[in-house]
Amino acid sequence: MKSKKSVCSNRPLNVLFIAAEADPFIKVGGLGDVAGSLPIALKKFVPSLDIRLAIPFYEVIHRSNVQADLVTSFSIPSTIGDVQADIFETRLGDLPVYLIDGKPIAANKEVYGTDFEMDAEKFVFFSLACLYLPMHLHWQIDILHANDWHTAISIYELVARKKEIPELSYVRSLLTIHNLPFMGAGSQNALKKFLITPAKNPRMPPWSRTLPLPMGMNAADKIVAVSPTYANEILTSDFGCDLQSFLQTKKKKITGVINGIDFNVWNPIKDQFIQSNFSTGQLSARAENKLALQKEFSLSIDPNKPLLTFIGRLDKQKGIDLVIEALQDLQNKNWQLIFLGKGLSELEAQIQALQCQFPDQIRAALRFDLALSHRLYAGADMLLMPSRYEPCGLAQMIAMHYGCVPLARATGGLVDTIVDYSSEPKLATGFLFQNTSGLQFSQTIESAIKIFQQTEIWQKIQQNGMSQDFSWQNSAAKYYSLYNSIL
Ligand code: GLC
Repeated sequence: MKSKKSVCSNRPLNVLFIAAEADPFIKVGGLGDVAGSLPIALKKFVPSLDIRLAIPFYEVIHRSNVQADLVTSFSIPSTIGDVQADIFETRLGDLPVYLIDGKPIAANKEVYGTDFEMDAEKFVFFSLACLYLPMHLHWQIDILHANDWHTAISIYELVARKKEIPELSYVRSLLTIHNLPFMGAGSQNALKKFLITPAKNPRMPPWSRTLPLPMGMNAADKIVAVSPTYANEILTSDFGCDLQSFLQTKKKKITGVINGIDFNVWNPIKDQFIQSNFSTGQLSARAENKLALQKEFSLSIDPNKPLLTFIGRLDKQKGIDLVIEALQDLQNKNWQLIFLGKGLSELEAQIQALQCQFPDQIRAALRFDLALSHRLYAGADMLLMPSRYEPCGLAQMIAMHYGCVPLARATGGLVDTIVDYSSEPKLATGFLFQNTSGLQFSQTIESAIKIFQQTEIWQKIQQNGMSQDFSWQNSAAKYYSLYNSIL
């Protein structure tokens, strides 16, 4: 019998990377950044690697007039008969990209809709199409790399069907967890429809045996959380979402790899969106970006007043309520703050109310605005990021790279990427606080404002942050060695 090793040692590794979103085709959140960058970084890291990406062919991608050719069609069996999957191919630089189309994908205009059942049908169909795609292309894959609940069922079915489908028998799987609480609630009917039986592992809580994410985690050869700290946190009752006891049984398969940032997009030296480019050696040029923001937002023009910012989804995960609480507690009134983001309407309303409470200090841009996010990273002094949980987090890495000092809660990827001033003053890149408490956060803001007045120390913190290596290269090297470790 051929061993798996001998199959792979003779030719480069073949990897199918699948996700619900990938920048620049479609991006809703951090997953889109990762899926649009990591496969490319892996290809750069090992040019012989044959890695290809697959995402759903959403209506918005159709509307963007992407150039894509139909390469194959096949059908997925279901209780209501065969459902056709049409596979189109396009490219992202050197990377082949498959856009998967079919009725369940076209039926729902949103990327993530509000109808859980429709979403489940779309993503279960997409996952199955991805699983069978390589066979229809006559492309023997070695690794199926899925991301989050949307694609986790492909791994579950891979293992379930291995015995009957020889092409699947050698395939190994890796599941990256970007956000554990989203497990695919409401998928029961979709699973039944596509003839997928519940998981049988008695160590899984019964309610989780029909949820795509735990089903995929149960089957995967490797589970990768997007930071080492989050990989440990999901084993605890605070972050494990009631899966912690089950996940403890998978402990040996779980690891953490920090995401990177794309230096072609995020680079203060050549960023086209900002007024004044700068580097670690010329931080003084950065000041112009702050003045430009103060002008743009009609805030008082004052280089000595710390300018704070919050950039991101307005979601409970991100701890907006802690920002609101902390600001009420602040003794120091000498600061300005610009919010950028959209999300839950109740949080948007609270931010608007805050703006009325602090009319001279707070501005709110309640929208998605990429160009403004660049200007904020480049001009604000501090980034507020009091997340309740943060599997990896992107904003803090971009902020540090732009000399905007993060003030964050010590959780998940924030712990792994920020060096806290109070524990390592010389190496510090930011400020961390422990508890989800508005009071603790306000104390952290007060201490940061004090340090901000001591220009030399502050600049050292900025420079430390700017010289961290958050490149995708590091993550790609780790994923590549994980691929090899499961073969
Ligand atoms: C999710 C997580 C975030 C992470 C991103 C990409 O959005 O909430 O922490 O950075 O996925 O992995």
